[in-house]
Amino acid sequence: MIVEFVDLKRQYATINKEVSKAISNVLSRQTFVLGNVLEKFESSFASYLGISYVVGVDNGTDGLNLALEALGIGKGDEVITPVNSFISTTFCITNAGATPVFVDVDPDTHQLNINQVKKKISKKTRAILPVHLYGAACDIESLVKICKKHRIFLVEDACQAQGSSYKRKKLGTFGVAGVFSFYPGKNLGAYGNGGAIVTKSKSLYMKLLKLRNFGQQKRYYHDSVGHNSKLDDIQAAVLSVKLRHLDDWNKKRNKLAEIYKKMLKDLKFPKILKDSKSNFHLLIIECKHRSKLQAYLLKKGIKAQIHYPVPIHLQKCYKRLGYKKGDFPVAEKLASTILSLPIYPELRKKEVEYIAREVNNFYGT
Ligand SMILES: Cc1ncc(COP(=O)(O)O)c(C=O)c1O
Repeated sequence: MIVEFVDLKRQYATINKEVSKAISNVLSRQTFVLGNVLEKFESSFASYLGISYVVGVDNGTDGLNLALEALGIGKGDEVITPVNSFISTTFCITNAGATPVFVDVDPDTHQLNINQVKKKISKKTRAILPVHLYGAACDIESLVKICKKHRIFLVEDACQAQGSSYKRKKLGTFGVAGVFSFYPGKNLGAYGNGGAIVTKSKSLYMKLLKLRNFGQQKRYYHDSVGHNSKLDDIQAAVLSVKLRHLDDWNKKRNKLAEIYKKMLKDLKFPKILKDSKSNFHLLIIECKHRSKLQAYLLKKGIKAQIHYPVPIHLQKCYKRLGYKKGDFPVAEKLASTILSLPIYPELRKKEVEYIAREVNNFYGT
């Protein structure tokens, strides 16, 4: 049996009629950039999240870049962020000219370690940039308190967390800004690149609208230096269709995660915070003999991946920051022991059972 890590073709087969209709609507309008279809998606995503404003941008990385720029974060500023994430969580800080101040992660949840965050706050700290890793909530309630106390910004990297929540409030809506990615493999994925910044602040929203569109409000009158980073209408049309299915798809992922947990009793899974709901963007196990297990699974047709094999402080691109092995031991250990098993709404129960059985076979349990 072959089990892909993600099989988007299966999902497409379930929505192809809806998607074709939505795309053909854009084609008949011939408004591809900043059109009504984008506006409609922004407003549906805002109501879905329960937030005032959504700004569609070209991708999640741009979303993070634009959010920090709009908040005026730059040279001389420090931003606290975890080392266990996709690289863009830190790229935006260095792209802004600011300094990333890294923290390790919690060994149980794999999310940023709050005690270390508290210790790393300095006079230069302007923001905390946590990630809701794997689509599960980090300790966002504590972060809100810390940011309020120190009067610093909270910008959430919610790129993996479409539809996840903490105490029934959607992730991405706790800070001054939240950023989503609509990369195709995400729980809410476009058919190309896509991203969004969400906020409850009208002034930030107004700044972001300009920033994504060449720094102009009136065409060809550029009040500030800006970017060209918009979610295009065809992607917005696809996302509007998919948004209608998101909760159902996330429920299916949760059910599959339960089967994995039931069948892989001897393995450690990252803990999900009480009162929170993960969208299970990724299904992570901690395992011994990781490379051998991954190779064994591949032989059995099961494609597993690693998120992420190198913590950010040890990436070549950040050598200049001077961090070394041993600085963040929890993230470093996880990088060599975690494995992501296939999980997506269209994955069949019997496929999950097959994967879990093969993992157990490998360990002889
Ligand atoms: C945690 C995290 N941050 C940022 C990004 C960047 O998003 P994008 O690929 O849309 O630029 C991603 C997606 O890959 C992500 O997983």
